Amino acid sequence: MATSWDNRYAFRTQRMTGSAIRELLKFTALPDVISFAGGMPAPAAFPIKEFNQACTKVLKDNGEKALQYGTTEGYLPLRDMIARHSARYGIEVTPENILITSGSQQALDLLGRIFINTGDRIVVENPTYVGALQAWNAYCAEYIPVPFDEEGMITTELEKTLRSGPKFIYVLPNFQNPTGVTLSFERRLQLIELSEKYGVPIVEDDPYGQLRYEGENLPPIEVLDSQIRAQKGCYSGNVIYTSTFSKTLAPGIRLAWVIAPPEVIHKLVMAKQGADLHTSTFSQMVAYEVGKDGFINEHVKEIRKIYRERRDVMLDTLSEHMPEEVKWTHPQGGLFLWLTLPECIDSRELLEEALKFKVAFVPGTAFFASGGHANTMRLNFSHPTPEKINEGIGRLGQAIKGFITRSKQG
Ligand SMILES: Cc1ncc(COP(=O)(O)O)c(C=O)c1O
Repeated sequence: MATSWDNRYAFRTQRMTGSAIRELLKFTALPDVISFAGGMPAPAAFPIKEFNQACTKVLKDNGEKALQYGTTEGYLPLRDMIARHSARYGIEVTPENILITSGSQQALDLLGRIFINTGDRIVVENPTYVGALQAWNAYCAEYIPVPFDEEGMITTELEKTLRSGPKFIYVLPNFQNPTGVTLSFERRLQLIELSEKYGVPIVEDDPYGQLRYEGENLPPIEVLDSQIRAQKGCYSGNVIYTSTFSKTLAPGIRLAWVIAPPEVIHKLVMAKQGADLHTSTFSQMVAYEVGKDGFINEHVKEIRKIYRERRDVMLDTLSEHMPEEVKWTHPQGGLFLWLTLPECIDSRELLEEALKFKVAFVPGTAFFASGGHANTMRLNFSHPTPEKINEGIGRLGQAIKGFITRSKQG
């Protein structure tokens, strides 16, 4: 008798909904479509030569180790390098505080595994990173979305959410995905104060912190928290921090890290053993070889140049082509910009229209834990070239103008 798979799935599998938008976004792979939909780095920013040299060196000098199983915690020299790199941003940790993960997406999943019971509430920004919602839906999390404006999570709205005893607060302080917005210094302090008052820890997801194109760097929440608690810059453990090499080296190597107190690292290690034993030894050794003499900091300067130009082209062409009812954010870094359309526009319907003009974006609804906000969309400026951005925003402007006119008529 053939198996009826529908009766076999776990309850949590029902929460793993695919998205209807994915179907539409398949069209973005067509060669003549200009896509602002993905979150991909520019291929021009990949250090292919350095990887080539590092691969050869690792295989020649250390091939037997590189192709062998490794420890779950990760390659010690790489964890050491990350500890040194973090110190540049004020995060004072040792390799004991660091777990290497297969992308920070895995870090989010592992955090879900060790912390989230069915029905646990997680405080999230509204909107937030859709990949975190996907990861934690599998653990049957509930979300408490906190309103958000051009300074990030509105911390005066946070207090009431903390009274219900959520598991943790998830925050993307720098050039947030999807909006590009940065959490202001004052709000960082308020967030820490409230987290302390209610005893709720913070998960700080920071893939884009190094990609700042203007303005002053703001201290990581982890650093401020440690300073405030201990009056000295050592890691106090209330903030779990995650970052990644995906945007500063390459996403294909699937390398990221979590910083947490050793007791939490220990639990994460056990969870990771069940997931994939360890992150690719070869990737870790190659990344260490590429980064060990300070290459990443130099390389990031090049990436910033490329993305700053692309962001500026997008901002300029938006001013040129968008009708005045359309508003957008001015990200100081990162990969994304956020558009708000008139309330009457559903950006999912607009996407169908835009695809006729051969341009794509991600409709905003998916980034809101409770849905809604259909009149928003995310645009990526790191992947398309300046020429494509120019052309694509022109097309998008045409699609939006036509759509708004028709909505007003109809
Ligand atoms: C906020 C945020 N967290 C995590 C990730 C996952 O990154 P990784 O490639 O390290 O898995 C992304 C990827 O775009 C992201 O934007």
